[in-house]
Amino acid sequence: MFTRPVPADRLPDLLRAMPKAELHMHIEGSLEPEQMFEFARRNSVALAYSSAQAVREAYVFDNLQSFLDIYHAGTMVLKTEQDFYDMACAYFARAQADNVTHAELFFDTQTHTGHGLSAATVINGLHRACDDAPAKYGLTASLILCFLRHLSEAEAFACLEEAMPLRDKLVGIGLASSEVGHPPEKFAKVFARAKQLGFRLVAHAGEEGPPEYIWNALDILKVERIDHGVQAIKDSRLMQRLIHDKVPLTVCPLSNLKLRVYSNLSQHNIGRMLDAGVVATINSDDPAYFGGYINENFTQTFAALGLNSDRAYQLALNSINASFIDATERARHVDRLNEVFETFR
Ligand code: HPA
Ligand code: ZN
Repeated sequence: MFTRPVPADRLPDLLRAMPKAELHMHIEGSLEPEQMFEFARRNSVALAYSSAQAVREAYVFDNLQSFLDIYHAGTMVLKTEQDFYDMACAYFARAQADNVTHAELFFDTQTHTGHGLSAATVINGLHRACDDAPAKYGLTASLILCFLRHLSEAEAFACLEEAMPLRDKLVGIGLASSEVGHPPEKFAKVFARAKQLGFRLVAHAGEEGPPEYIWNALDILKVERIDHGVQAIKDSRLMQRLIHDKVPLTVCPLSNLKLRVYSNLSQHNIGRMLDAGVVATINSDDPAYFGGYINENFTQTFAALGLNSDRAYQLALNSINASFIDATERARHVDRLNEVFETFR
């Protein structure tokens, strides 16, 4: 770690400039209202809103479920491989502006196959965008297919089966959607199968659900990272486990604020998590719905909690170390991070 802190007035510039990996964002959650209207027009889909502004005004949520209902309605405009390509490219352009140098994108096929699309339409469109990302947006990207946990394990198996011809286009498997009432162990067998197939594993746990869901994601699903995980702070033995095993948490502060996990960002526990030694990262989750992309999450969180440049370095380094890139790539990202920090001292 560096000894000389970056002056506080340069912190916002540093937060934007520092290279970082984004490990928790749902690509369907990056669909901005303007793009929603554009896709609705070109695919002849009727929208229930009169303008992009009216869509934005509807984005007031009470909890995760109230968000998921609106989010699923938004996905109805996505019809073609090109839509998925364009949506991912729009996100990459935003990510590049925030100096994201590597992104691991969540997506689900079950939402879209439920609307009559094939998994191949979704995966091929997103993957072509990931392929083009280094040349067009100066970042690398990979794909994590999330099962929808409000559906059955048999449906998750069918989802995995349909994706298998495109297995090489995916780095991992995750678990998303309505958490409470759908514990990790519901998906024990399909995660075991995914592990056998060589997928990297992650799961949403402890966003609204209890610490027990985090234990079970680790011990039963055998995941390598926990998405959200903020409820871990209620269980000191679990905190020790996360710290000891260096289990990364992909935390999404503005998501937690919008979905009312916290009523104010100053109550967010990410500062305490970092103080305790948890490998936490900052991410945007569903940036078009939750009020900002990754840099907005960094700047608002740092302002609310009074975090300093050492924490900025730690968070950027954690994001690189927690990503699913290989050791050579990792070293290259860390070198770039160190170079940028040097220019701020
Ligand atoms: N939690 C669970 N499922 C999701 C989320 C989330 O924050 N965003 C999109 N799907
Ligand atoms: Zn999420």
